[in-house]
Amino acid sequence: MTAKHSAKEQTVALIGANGMLARMVRERAPQGYLLHLFDLPEFDLTDRDQVLEVLTRLSPDVIINCAAFTNVDGAETERDLAMAVNGTAVSTLAEAAIMIDATLVHVSTDYVFDGSKAGPYVESDQTNPQSVYGETKSSGEQSITASDLTKFFIIRTSWLYGPGGNNFVETILRLAGERDELRIIADQVGSPTYTADLADAIFRLHTIATKPQSMIPSPYGIYHFANEGSCSWYEFACAIVEEGRKHGLPLKVREIYPISTEEYPLPATRPTNSVFDKAKYRAISGAPIPDWRESLHTYFLQREIKE
Ligand SMILES: NC(=O)c1ccc[n+]([C@@H]2O[C@H](COP(=O)([O-])OP(=O)(O)OC[C@H]3O[C@@H](n4cnc5c(N)ncnc54)[C@H](OP(=O)(O)O)[C@@H]3O)[C@@H](O)[C@H]2O)c1
Repeated sequence: MTAKHSAKEQTVALIGANGMLARMVRERAPQGYLLHLFDLPEFDLTDRDQVLEVLTRLSPDVIINCAAFTNVDGAETERDLAMAVNGTAVSTLAEAAIMIDATLVHVSTDYVFDGSKAGPYVESDQTNPQSVYGETKSSGEQSITASDLTKFFIIRTSWLYGPGGNNFVETILRLAGERDELRIIADQVGSPTYTADLADAIFRLHTIATKPQSMIPSPYGIYHFANEGSCSWYEFACAIVEEGRKHGLPLKVREIYPISTEEYPLPATRPTNSVFDKAKYRAISGAPIPDWRESLHTYFLQREIKE
């Protein structure tokens, strides 16, 4: 094994490397970050022996965990697998990070909250997941915070979309291309998040932690990150169709109707309010966070280039 990497170069084990967020992490990694990619089927996060063996052999400076069981409704019937990936496996990553003195960056979700708060959620707010997916993600968070690992970032995010994934933006574009009318839930409010902005935030936080003077006070801990502003799923859908039309997509849809959660029952309960307070991230990074409309527009521009 070579000597542990120079002060500048950061070796990263990127877990769940083929997922939607991870693809963007690969694209946005700043110079000096050397990424090693791990995903199913070769690498199974639930295989503790394999995870410990692979990570101790690589001995990365950073483990970025983008892997998860992300099928929110599917988790209601596949609790064991969801818990194995989102809960138990995260404790293996924390264990590995302690063994090799790596920083663990773990991505979590707004679904750890029950959504009953009147205002935006701060990091220290009580979690109270209402779905199996939320429970398993909350368990993953706890396995890090209850461990002896001090060098970690848990970054909670919400309503994620970006290239290469099943996400609300692509679903709405598909449906708007097929149907005359759409009915979209208007009584759940949150903040859409473009994967490019989240990937940048991940590296910004990690870069801060690599600067020696930043260690007092410690930058590690839990952060909320989403695009600025908030909307309902209905408002998000209207904005997606508007952007789609601006970008010349052949959309058939004529009307979008706001409906209530009760009118569109799903297996998993979602929070009514999942808006984040992001002051902690803004304070430490000093970086502005793009508004969700602006980032949606950027996504459409990127989409156009890639088409
Ligand atoms: N998407 C959202 O709206 C949203 C919102 C809030 C938070 N988040 C969080 O953001 C993170 C990234 O989400 P995403 O949407 O990018 O997820 P994603 O597209 O579903 O990607 C997850 C990746 O993890 C892999 N994976 C699943 N089980 C694994 C295992 N046992 N071992 C190794 N890899 C495994 C998946 O492989 P397969 O595809 O082969 O299963 C996939 O490549 C997750 O932590 C998620 O909980 C997402």
